[in-house]
Amino acid sequence: MDIINGLPRHVACVMDGNGRWAAQRSLPRTAGHQAAEAAVIDVIEAARSAGIAWLSLYAFSTENWRRPAGEVDILMRLVRRAIRKHAPALHARGVRCRFLGVSDPRIPPQLARDITDLMTLTGDNRQMTLTVAFDHGGRRDIVEAARSLIRAAVPAEEVTETTFAGHLPYSDTPDVDLVIRTSGEQRISNFMLWQVAYAEWVFPDVLWPDFRATHLWECLDAYRRRQRRFGDVRRPAATTGEELR
Ligand code: IPE
Ligand code: IPE
Ligand code: MG
Repeated sequence: MDIINGLPRHVACVMDGNGRWAAQRSLPRTAGHQAAEAAVIDVIEAARSAGIAWLSLYAFSTENWRRPAGEVDILMRLVRRAIRKHAPALHARGVRCRFLGVSDPRIPPQLARDITDLMTLTGDNRQMTLTVAFDHGGRRDIVEAARSLIRAAVPAEEVTETTFAGHLPYSDTPDVDLVIRTSGEQRISNFMLWQVAYAEWVFPDVLWPDFRATHLWECLDAYRRRQRRFGDVRRPAATTGEELR
């Protein structure tokens, strides 16, 4: 089949399947979260070297607070450890790191501090923007945008898709072109609801801890062959997602 699309500008991953990866090995779920770090690092570097400008990773949802306290606690520790370990390399490679979410008082203060430090350290980098959706909920972001519009006393007739999007967190982030969800689950799970409106989805048959650069290349290949029409009837020229904006 023809190559239709170029490289997606914004790739987002729902990093799912850590618990099942661990269960397959008769290990505790947290071993799966620990093993996920290698996949995260591999994918960040692969995306950066491929020239993907925006990469978003779903690391913890607003719904994940429902999990047992011990699992949440270990997840928080692992994220903090990963930030401290990889911050220098991410910075050296020109990756701008952002966190989407991070508003819950249950986030340990040391982790919140390390997140702020990482965002400050890498804030001027431009090779690639990595957005970690952590304590993220798509609906919450939409509600917050509505609140922000009301606080700014924007008249109803001036509320358009463009002005609304301007009140979302990190409103400079382009719409997502490609979402990759590992583990076989095929649902949104409250992920970047506004930004995925016209994304292409792929569901590689792999659990997140096993996801590597080669899987990313396969997903990019699938994306290149998708016909993106944005509601139109014509066969599109090469698309990047710009069309929706
Ligand atoms: C994804 O893996 C990681 C987080 C949601 C934090 P899961 O922990 O959801 O793994 P499964 O879905 O139970 O296999
Ligand atoms: C979505 O995965 C959240 C992350 C990957 C961080 P979940 O495993 O929490 O989603 P559900 O519960 O299967 O919808
Ligand atoms: Mg899951």
